[in-house]
Amino acid sequence: MKITVVGGTGTVGSLVVEAAQARGHEAIPASRSTGVDVTTGEGLNEALRGADAVIDVSSMPTLSVSPAVKFFSTAAKNVLAAAEAAEVPHVVRLSIIGVDRNPHGFYAGQLAMEKIYNDAAVPTTILRAAQFHEFAAQTLQRSTLGPVVLAPRARVQPVAGWEVAEKLVSLAEGQPLGRAADLAGPHEEDLAEMVRAYARSQGSRRLILPVRLPVPMMRGMAAGLQLPREGAQLGTETFAEWLGVVGDGASSSKTDT
Ligand SMILES: NC(=O)c1ccc[n+]([C@@H]2O[C@H](COP(=O)([O-])OP(=O)(O)OC[C@H]3O[C@@H](n4cnc5c(N)ncnc54)[C@H](OP(=O)(O)O)[C@@H]3O)[C@@H](O)[C@H]2O)c1
Repeated sequence: MKITVVGGTGTVGSLVVEAAQARGHEAIPASRSTGVDVTTGEGLNEALRGADAVIDVSSMPTLSVSPAVKFFSTAAKNVLAAAEAAEVPHVVRLSIIGVDRNPHGFYAGQLAMEKIYNDAAVPTTILRAAQFHEFAAQTLQRSTLGPVVLAPRARVQPVAGWEVAEKLVSLAEGQPLGRAADLAGPHEEDLAEMVRAYARSQGSRRLILPVRLPVPMMRGMAAGLQLPREGAQLGTETFAEWLGVVGDGASSSKTDT
């Protein structure tokens, strides 16, 4: 199959490209760095031409409702319009567990995107996943203020990015489902402790301060609204196992993450 991976240069997107190639598919990453912009539509028609499936994992980091809704709504409309024009038979989109229970901040954007997918003219599948193990690294980067890290407390059940990537590829290989079963990891973790463990595995000596961020989205995460419910599938790799691999690979070279 030819699979266009929108956002295929990002954290999970690059793993989707790898997983698709490992399964013998032609996987084409599409993002701004390859000349494709989901907010303007630039390059999308060309990127989707001849695709047997599209997997969209494009994203932008924000905690604010308005930019999140604007980005994810525009991206959804543009990707689906280009898929319809190119007669792509299946578009798979990644979302996040619990966005309906916690429709604030970034999650408002994911929810708006899901609604557009639900009404799409093109056959679609939405997979809601839990936070990735890699979210520890993303949160560390976004929460570092000089020598201090304000690590948000949150109840999460993280899943390895590679397991999400494999699931997205297998969904793209199958028939459109509308909504797939949610995918989380094997154990609940505290996000602040994940950030601390990841930072230490990278040799960082920064002060890690666990904080309860007083914004609705983070209050919802701290209350467990992103945890999987009955019927979710669970991945196998624990955060500690993932950290063992990532930490071993990087701890000797990075000392001040
Ligand atoms: N992170 C998590 O823990 C998590 C958990 C569950 C679900 N998800 C879902 O996974 C998605 C991807 O998350 P991620 O952490 O992999 O994101 P990421 O690392 O920030 O990657 C974002 C990707 O989107 C591309 N992109 C950004 N703006 C674009 C634009 N205007 N046009 C085209 N491409 C654009 C980026 O490439 P360029 O910069 O080259 O454009 C990059 O490839 C999220 O939106 C969410 O739905 C994430």
